[in-house]
Amino acid sequence: MHNGTTITQFIIEEQRHVAGATGDFTSLLNDIVTACKVISNMVNQGALVGVLGSAESENIQGETQKKLDILTNEVFIKSNEWAGHLAAMASEEMDTIYDIPAKYPRGKYLLTFDPLDGSSNIDVNVSVGTIFSILRIQGGDGAPSERDFLQAGTQQVAAGYALYGPSTMMVLTTGKGVNGFTLDQSIGEFILTHPDMTIPADTREFAINASNMRFWEPAVKRYVQECLDGKEGPRGDDFNMRWIASMVAEVHRILTRGGVFMYPIDSKMKSKGLGGKLRLLYEANPMSFIVEQAGGGSITGAERIMDLQPESLHQRVPVILGSKNEVERILGYHDQA
Ligand code: AHG
Ligand code: MN
Ligand code: MN
Ligand code: MN
Repeated sequence: MHNGTTITQFIIEEQRHVAGATGDFTSLLNDIVTACKVISNMVNQGALVGVLGSAESENIQGETQKKLDILTNEVFIKSNEWAGHLAAMASEEMDTIYDIPAKYPRGKYLLTFDPLDGSSNIDVNVSVGTIFSILRIQGGDGAPSERDFLQAGTQQVAAGYALYGPSTMMVLTTGKGVNGFTLDQSIGEFILTHPDMTIPADTREFAINASNMRFWEPAVKRYVQECLDGKEGPRGDDFNMRWIASMVAEVHRILTRGGVFMYPIDSKMKSKGLGGKLRLLYEANPMSFIVEQAGGGSITGAERIMDLQPESLHQRVPVILGSKNEVERILGYHDQA
């Protein structure tokens, strides 16, 4: 018999203090939790159930979809379309918004998600995750449109991720700090194991795909070079570097022990007309909300990510997030550039 706090209990107790709460939000989060348990199970079974490898399709980002990109997207839709809490959904794997089918009632929330983050890792059995964000639909009862999703990150009601690693975890914010839960497989419940997660303000660890170094802008080149210069350089200390290629795992490491994660804009992306690698609505904004709620910072380089006014559903942005003092230093380097 466990005696910990389950995620459902935690959310119900948190929502008890919210004036006017109807239970809709709690119920929506429960459906998201269920979807993540199903995905955890699929990822765990992997090759045994034939879900690894690539599909024949490409998504709107121009990426070849993995079978699991498609299957996990399906799981999220099926878990969340029926209950009447959502007006529409949007995801990395769908070209346009997903309107709730007419046979179900429409609700007041919008859900955006990256059903399988780090999917290039799936075939090599390295950690992957799911990222989600909840917005409130603004205005009338008409059919929801892409425009309804174009809300700044500061408008998010909640954001979270599931990490399918050595253990499966769910990390969640509703704007009152960040809490982490571990899936107890024996009872099928997420249990609160990491209350009040905070990111240390200082760090000696950074994460960036250094194969793009020659394309970076001067501010990022300067920051990374100073880290690499170590004790003998201007930072006066040795730094460590990590790159998992799964944003969920990188952010989780930073929430656990500090650090900076960077996927900056570079000249190669610019020449293709891209604003960055990561997607604003279902990667950058939810992760920024979590990181800021844990005391960290999250910027594009020169601006706070959550202040951006989104222009399109699949908009991409540069992302630099993590330990507050390092992120402020990088912001300063951009201001000077
Ligand atoms: P996704 O698998 O959802 O498309 O996202 C992958 C993202 C992110 O998780 C990771 O930080 C980055 O892409 C890795 O990029 P590289 O392959 O360039 O290292
Ligand atoms: Mn992808
Ligand atoms: Mn992703
Ligand atoms: Mn993805």
